[in-house]
Amino acid sequence: MLTPYNLTVEYKTNPIGMDEVRPRFAYNLDGDTCFQTERRIKVTDDAGTVVWDTEWEETSGTIQIEYQGIPLKPFTRYNWQVRVKDEEKKVSKWGKGFFETGFLGGNWTGTWLCSSVDNSTEVMRPIRCFRKDFTPKGKIKSARLYATALGFYSAFLNGMEVDEVYFTPGWTDYYKRVQYQAYDITKMLKAEKNNALCFLFADGWYRGTIATHWNMGKPTYDMLDSMIRAELHITYQDGSKEVIGSDKTFLSVDMKDRGSSYIRYSDIYMGENFVSDRLDSNWMRPEEPYKKYVWLDPASNLTSGWYGGESHETHTADSLPIVWTSGAMVRIVQDVEAVSITQRKNGSWIVDFGQNLVGHERIILRNLEAGTHITIRHGEMLQANGALYTDNLRMALATTTFRAQADKKLEIYEPRFTFYGFRYLEITGWPGKLTEKDVIARVIHSDLPQTGTFQCSDKLVNQLYSNIIWGQKCNFVDVPTDCPQRDERLGWTGDTQVFCNVATYNMYAPEFYTKWIDDLNSCQHENGAYPDFAPQPYMTRSEATSGWGDAGVICPWIMFEKYADTRLMEKYFDNICRWLDYQVKRAGGKFLVENSSYGDWLNIDAHTPHEVISTTYYAGMSLIAAKMAQILGREQDALERLRFYQAAADAFAEKYFNKKGELTVRTQTAALLALSFGCVPGEYIQKTVDFLVKDIKITRKLHLSTGFLGTPLLLKVLTQHGHIDLAYDLLLQTTYPSWLYPVTQGATTMWERWNTWTKEDGFGDVGMNSFNHYAYGAVGEWFYETICGINCVSECECTAGFQAILLAPQPGKRLTEASATYKSISGEIKSAWKRTKTHFIWEFTVPRNTLAEVVCPFGKTLPATEGIEEHEDGIMIAQPGSYKIVLPL
Ligand code: BGC
Repeated sequence: MLTPYNLTVEYKTNPIGMDEVRPRFAYNLDGDTCFQTERRIKVTDDAGTVVWDTEWEETSGTIQIEYQGIPLKPFTRYNWQVRVKDEEKKVSKWGKGFFETGFLGGNWTGTWLCSSVDNSTEVMRPIRCFRKDFTPKGKIKSARLYATALGFYSAFLNGMEVDEVYFTPGWTDYYKRVQYQAYDITKMLKAEKNNALCFLFADGWYRGTIATHWNMGKPTYDMLDSMIRAELHITYQDGSKEVIGSDKTFLSVDMKDRGSSYIRYSDIYMGENFVSDRLDSNWMRPEEPYKKYVWLDPASNLTSGWYGGESHETHTADSLPIVWTSGAMVRIVQDVEAVSITQRKNGSWIVDFGQNLVGHERIILRNLEAGTHITIRHGEMLQANGALYTDNLRMALATTTFRAQADKKLEIYEPRFTFYGFRYLEITGWPGKLTEKDVIARVIHSDLPQTGTFQCSDKLVNQLYSNIIWGQKCNFVDVPTDCPQRDERLGWTGDTQVFCNVATYNMYAPEFYTKWIDDLNSCQHENGAYPDFAPQPYMTRSEATSGWGDAGVICPWIMFEKYADTRLMEKYFDNICRWLDYQVKRAGGKFLVENSSYGDWLNIDAHTPHEVISTTYYAGMSLIAAKMAQILGREQDALERLRFYQAAADAFAEKYFNKKGELTVRTQTAALLALSFGCVPGEYIQKTVDFLVKDIKITRKLHLSTGFLGTPLLLKVLTQHGHIDLAYDLLLQTTYPSWLYPVTQGATTMWERWNTWTKEDGFGDVGMNSFNHYAYGAVGEWFYETICGINCVSECECTAGFQAILLAPQPGKRLTEASATYKSISGEIKSAWKRTKTHFIWEFTVPRNTLAEVVCPFGKTLPATEGIEEHEDGIMIAQPGSYKIVLPL
């Protein structure tokens, strides 16, 4: 019998505040039989009324099941259940889950509020606080808090944080939309007693230095202040309901000089400045005495007066769409202890966590004395003399400042509205001796479960894999960023598109990317150009670059491959066409296009002309668009895009191949792009591959010369064209430039450059020198797909999302073993191989309700194995189950 488990709605487990009108259900199957033959889904509302019953349907589908019941109502809990029949017609138990709708686009009763205290227009100013007291009238059945802000907010009820999430409401282009969050506060609310709902809020992405820095020094959103908006919905046991919305009865709280601890400023780039005083968060408690300590002012209502900059239409806050949080929340995901603490001659302490990471520190101070002043600077490296290295942070100060105004027995402090990219801390002013017990690092990122694992017999490759995982953790802070430490931390599109494939093996990220793809499309220029990074509301906004703007095509496509998600491409197909057409229009109607600003960014003395990059990318993206159109049933569009692809490929071939069939641009990247994106005429393929191989092997002495765009394609293209050994040689190369070179130099994350730092020459070019840039980590996809051979079959909607799997490991001679696991949306896949002196042993697992084509390594024939059948065309198909194949060598 089969059992449904891991039920999700819109990629989330039991979401609340969900505003998708046609939510999609998914589940996995476990059990002792193999296939689902029928399925029944039933959805009921909170009154128990059935709103959708599919009855038994003949289907094998377990993912992307779209709700088609009666229209959903706002603020309603829906229970859903699913049961299945297997191939023996045995009926499973019901798998059960729920979802709860939010506003569903409806109006808010709460209004936008800004604080009436500390209302300076400075960029770095104290965080602001609100308090609302109220008494629920009777016994409570359920209670929800809905909240949003222009800026960052944290919500507290009766002194307790409603959920320990960071940087809410998340980063979007606040001209276009802002997200709200929903919290279940039923258990925190006190019936028939005074309750205190409190908020802290800071400027964050909306109005902090990150917004001015990228907007030629001016505030991005030409607004008076940061604002917050909230609604509390209480359902009483007698069935009555009450809504408390943010209004002028919310009080602004001023804690400064009133004996309360407060944050003097908190800024993403600059860090946090904290003043510790006697009263901590007493002001959040529901009891009366708080009034003694704080000043209270009514909050100000703000419903108008918000104007866009030159390139934006005028907006008022009230016209701003408030949307649900489709992405993942940012949380503290792990704590890291110091591996060493040393004191420098000047009295400062250097704390080493042994791992470059993202987040903040927590410090514990006992018997704290008034007047204590501690400064904590963050860095990724130390200088040769042991001092902290911060030059590569550019204008980001990345500093925590802590000052005590009163004696205190115990103070535990950690910054709240900022984050740092660091491995080392430099702490000055610490009273007494600093020990490992006094400070830890708290790792913060979008809270996504890890779905992939990989290990092999080469220690350096294992470290590289760890660096890739850490690169992802550190650059998944609500949006996919380029780096987490310097004055950037932006959703760079090029970095995102090259990393998206490996990222979705490493972690369960459909919701994370869905939200960002929405961000990207919301920032698309009217002329069709996708921005270089998203969210992108700044005046400095640049116009679309090949390989960067193409994230608009590639990311939705990867969402289809990995999760069988057709909704994103359906929603954005026209935008994708506008982006492609924009390039041709810009080239005066020609298919040799050129809109590349960054070229093959950070290549090694191997310049690839921009027209080559743009035209091959245009061709490749047209092919993807054609596939999308086919899947969406848009036949005419599919044909048209294929025609455009062909036109670009022909134009490219004509200009860039000579009569001998040689590619005239002699760079590895030119060859890789042309081969990957179908721009090499069939008869020239061998010559192009030969050139590539020769350039790597001879000209570059077994090294790559590729940058951001070429590097991710290298191993894939070599593998596709029969050069698996050379691909392994490149992967295992340890001298500069190579993936393992930074590992030999002590890297614990992916670096922006191959030689960001070297033992011999020290630090690289300080203008661009991040120790945490995941782009080159794209190579991790090759670990899953080629070394261990786990691949999706993205031909159509019913095979994508690993409903059909291709298992085809290609072991390299220099590795004796490798293994990978991947919890796909259709179930967990495993593939592990080992070489002994005499045998090759391959073990793999095919999840329930899927089929895998199995390709034996070394061109060998698969021995007869129960559960694996040969199909007419010679293809070997494995049923769900675990297998062990032993091949003599
Ligand atoms: C970022 C890169 C990005 C690039 C564009 C940089 O500042 O850090 O990762 O892709 O700009 O060339």
